[in-house]
Amino acid sequence: MGTVPGEIERARLRALLERERARYVADHPRSQELFARARATLLAGVPMSFMGMLTGAFPLSFEGAHGNRIVDVDGRTYIDFCLGDTGAMAGHSPAAVLDAVHERLQTKGGITTMLPTEDATWVGAELQRRFGLPYWQFALTATDANRWVLRMCRMAQRRPYVLVFSECYHGTVDETIVVVGPDGRAMAKPGNVGPQVDPTQTTRVVEFNDVEALAAALRPRDVACVLMEPWMTNIGIVPPRPGFLDAVRALCDETGTLLINDETHTFSAGVGGCTRAYGLRPDAVTIGKAIAGGVPIGAYGVTEELAARILGDADADLVDQGGVGGTLAGNALASAAARATLEQVLTEDAFAHMISLGTAYTEGVQAVLDEYAVPWVIVQLGARAEYRFCPEVPRTGNQSRAAHDGQIEEYLHLYTLNRGIFITPFHNMALMCPDTSRADVDRHTEVFGAALRQLLV
Ligand SMILES: Cc1ncc(COP(=O)(O)O)c(C=O)c1O
Repeated sequence: MGTVPGEIERARLRALLERERARYVADHPRSQELFARARATLLAGVPMSFMGMLTGAFPLSFEGAHGNRIVDVDGRTYIDFCLGDTGAMAGHSPAAVLDAVHERLQTKGGITTMLPTEDATWVGAELQRRFGLPYWQFALTATDANRWVLRMCRMAQRRPYVLVFSECYHGTVDETIVVVGPDGRAMAKPGNVGPQVDPTQTTRVVEFNDVEALAAALRPRDVACVLMEPWMTNIGIVPPRPGFLDAVRALCDETGTLLINDETHTFSAGVGGCTRAYGLRPDAVTIGKAIAGGVPIGAYGVTEELAARILGDADADLVDQGGVGGTLAGNALASAAARATLEQVLTEDAFAHMISLGTAYTEGVQAVLDEYAVPWVIVQLGARAEYRFCPEVPRTGNQSRAAHDGQIEEYLHLYTLNRGIFITPFHNMALMCPDTSRADVDRHTEVFGAALRQLLV
């Protein structure tokens, strides 16, 4: 028994963690062998640095994935609540995307030509309908969409700074890898890899939900734009307090600052993300990951007014080497995949299903927390939900960071993975896709409950 109900005994946690680590190793000989080989050729043994965020002693190598199931190289099947950290929010290899990609690759031909296709125009119109912004362009990642929009905003505004919220994540964008330090002042995020310049020279950073700090930071009128997720999702989920999003818009209006909503993850709120769900009025929206069914893409949309300022700027080179655009961006393959995803997969009906399962997942986790009197919270944002090891919903990035507990997290990730459930290796995020079923959610609740019973009873 813990000393008080719901309290974790560390010695027991360590023992259980060892047991789960050993089980992981024993169950995945082929993944272990592939990792040993990969270490001889791949930097850190992984094709991309985030894949080094291990749940076990070595990464799980996978063989195939369909819908919300992944099969690993040892033949084990997982219910996937990670969904490629949102890249596969449409499910793995959705049929409509396969058909569209096949038609583009095989029948019509031409993956990338640096020429436009009709599909791109269709996708622009659909994003316009969903997010309410008239003009769109494409990138290959959400990172690049953010990078390019920041440049265009700085140019249009002739102002040097951008503003972000502490503990945000907007991709590997230099200006955003900055936090509010322990002394309340901006500092480069610990671990920031080789920044070109100290990001405090390019960026103002304040805590999410802190209207006063935001007002003070925008007052000098030298901030070109605020880049934000309407709900923070990369440090657990941090919701806005009532009125905060309105206050951000009002302060931007008062100080002539542009507002960019990064909807890459908050897309889980509905077909048009938080922008549509809450009737927000950003000057630009950026998005990526899910909208092409897993094929790499990023997109950005801007208002009529911002478009006119960008296109009317005689000093800006927007068609060659001015710092915006990429050779493969807007390619025919990604455009075809995005059209199929938005037209046939991530539809209104699909979101209704995904969001109802997000609610069921949240209720399931909450019931387990109540049963064992565990003082943690779970927060839902549409089709996404995440529990956090603190008693109250965090309201700032730094509050949420303080609730991190690496040992409990590793135990829960491994316990669930060893029983066929895969949640996002970063923090405790779970996402529903059109293929997720109520039975999958109930299975998670059951396994999560068993993990806590082992720990607490
Ligand atoms: C809100 C947000 N914006 C942008 C990105 C960057 O996406 P990508 O790594 O696909 O460029 C991420 C990635 O997690 C994200 O969460």
